[in-house]
Amino acid sequence: MKEHVTDNPVGIVSGSVDADVVLSPVEQEHLTWLRDQRNRAELNRWFRQPWMLTTSDQEKWFHSLQNREKHCFIVTAAAGESSRASQKVGYVALNQVNFITRTAEFSIFIVPEFQAHGYGKKALEKLFAFAFDNLNMHLIWGEVYEGNPALALYLKMGFRKEGVLRDRAFKEGRYWSSTILSLTENEWRLQARHSSAR
Ligand SMILES: CC(C)(COP(=O)(O)OP(=O)(O)OC[C@H]1O[C@@H](n2cnc3c(N)ncnc32)[C@H](O)[C@@H]1OP(=O)(O)O)[C@@H](O)C(=O)NCCC(=O)NCCS
Repeated sequence: MKEHVTDNPVGIVSGSVDADVVLSPVEQEHLTWLRDQRNRAELNRWFRQPWMLTTSDQEKWFHSLQNREKHCFIVTAAAGESSRASQKVGYVALNQVNFITRTAEFSIFIVPEFQAHGYGKKALEKLFAFAFDNLNMHLIWGEVYEGNPALALYLKMGFRKEGVLRDRAFKEGRYWSSTILSLTENEWRLQARHSSAR
């Protein structure tokens, strides 16, 4: 059943909720929560920045959102999601949004306590719908460090491997390679048609 969410300024993304997550734009009040989550070792190990984020880092980052090259959302469990309803379960974003090439990078985390409940997949589906249906993007890309099981999720969602960047991160005393993945609008729509036909 569809449910209207009224307290979310980005109604395009989340005004109609018939799944289990709501995306709402990052606000100042979320910064402490975001910093604390991003600094958790289990999440941080998969991100580009190997350092701990400070309040001042977060403030600078928040002000940079005004240039619209990034679209960042808090992921909340939707109403009807039992005891988890309205809880913040993660974060998704489009980064490096380029309106000439119509490309954007995506990023995501789901807090460890809420992983493996389907929130990550639902959040990405909503993020990609926003990217293709509202920002008129042509291609979404992502970078996944070696060993990250998230790769399986992205491949399942239709992403294709573009290639491997060797030794692109240095963490935990060693270099890590990454895989670049991408998904075009056509591939996304084809995949969505197949999923709804199943
Ligand atoms: C990657 C991540 C966002 C996935 O979110 P999630 O909510 O745990 O994933 P979901 O529950 O939506 O799982 C969706 C699918 O991916 C698969 N999947 C998710 N995590 C997986 C894992 N660790 N190993 C294997 N498969 C996994 C699930 O089996 C599921 O498949 P199904 O739809 O066939 O059941 C989350 O694990 C995370 O935040 N990881 C740490 C941060 C990170 O790596 N971010 C991405 C950087 S590129």
